[in-house]
Amino acid sequence: MKILGIETSCDETSVAVVDGEDRILSNVIHSQVPVHRPYGGVVPELASRHHLQHIHSILDRALDDAGATLDDLDGIAVTAGPGLVGCLLVGLSFGKALAWARDLPMVGMNHLEGHIRAAFLEHPVELPALFLVVSGGHTALYHVTAPRAFQRLAHTRDDAAGEAYDKVAKLLGLGYPGGPIIDRLVHGRPVGKVSFAIPRMSDGSLDFSFSGIKTGVLYHVREHGIEALAEVPSSAEEVPEEVLELLAGFQNTVVETLVSRTLRALEGREVRSVGLVGGVACNRRLRQRMAEACGQRGLPVYIPSPLLCADNAAMIASAGRLR
Ligand code: KG4
Ligand code: ZN
Repeated sequence: MKILGIETSCDETSVAVVDGEDRILSNVIHSQVPVHRPYGGVVPELASRHHLQHIHSILDRALDDAGATLDDLDGIAVTAGPGLVGCLLVGLSFGKALAWARDLPMVGMNHLEGHIRAAFLEHPVELPALFLVVSGGHTALYHVTAPRAFQRLAHTRDDAAGEAYDKVAKLLGLGYPGGPIIDRLVHGRPVGKVSFAIPRMSDGSLDFSFSGIKTGVLYHVREHGIEALAEVPSSAEEVPEEVLELLAGFQNTVVETLVSRTLRALEGREVRSVGLVGGVACNRRLRQRMAEACGQRGLPVYIPSPLLCADNAAMIASAGRLR
């Protein structure tokens, strides 16, 4: 069996081929970061056009890499949401046209189900599992009791974790996207004196909120007269000490919020393993802290390799295969 996956929900145009045993035969990911960098965030209209311009050649490359042709395909899985509407429309229309012309079954897939599926591509995840999905658009906890059975336990009430990274980096003139830049700048640095309160919901729910931490960073910047860098730094040496200390405090608060909320979600639930997925799951401190915290409770943690944490079509093809 060969399933074609198509992912265009945000700023990555990706097409992949996965076989009946979940082996990734190809997974072409075309990032639009250079297109959006001048604006410090994804510009939806530019993203849609870019998908439209590139999706044909990305399909050709994905088929080539898999050593396959359209004749070899048994089905198509396309991200149907959530995501940027114009961007989703490109992938969905493309997938529908292909399915109709080739008389193939097509399924519209949930993007977050795809992110969760990414962990299963590389690891024998024991179920029931608790999954933390952290990306630029989402921060959510799911109880996964069977390969296609999810119960959402918590979500963010305002910003997503990755969004907070991106906005803090923008505020300080560090470049885009903020997550990998901040990760690199503070890697291996001990947490200093700067810290922010870990947000808690007054109603006791497991939900997340990151806008308070973001505002905390803004107040700190104003109070200390910190100015945004005039030029995007190429290394930590070009960043003032007070900014590095602020970034370390910010990252520590985000990571500890994510880890502590995950641990709380374990209470009173049958969980045999923990999954950490989505673009922010590339973060080295988060990977390490989650592994430590769950390891102490005797729980294995499954985190996809960085390529499969970020948006990609292999995870969509794999989720579609189950359907
Ligand atoms: O999953 P993804 O590629 O796209 C969405 O579905 O949103 O996630 C992108 C997000 C961005 O906000 C980016 O800053 C963040 O993931 N990110 C990171 C790291 N790498 C990517 N955040 C923290 N540390 C990283 N190393
Ligand atoms: Zn995503």
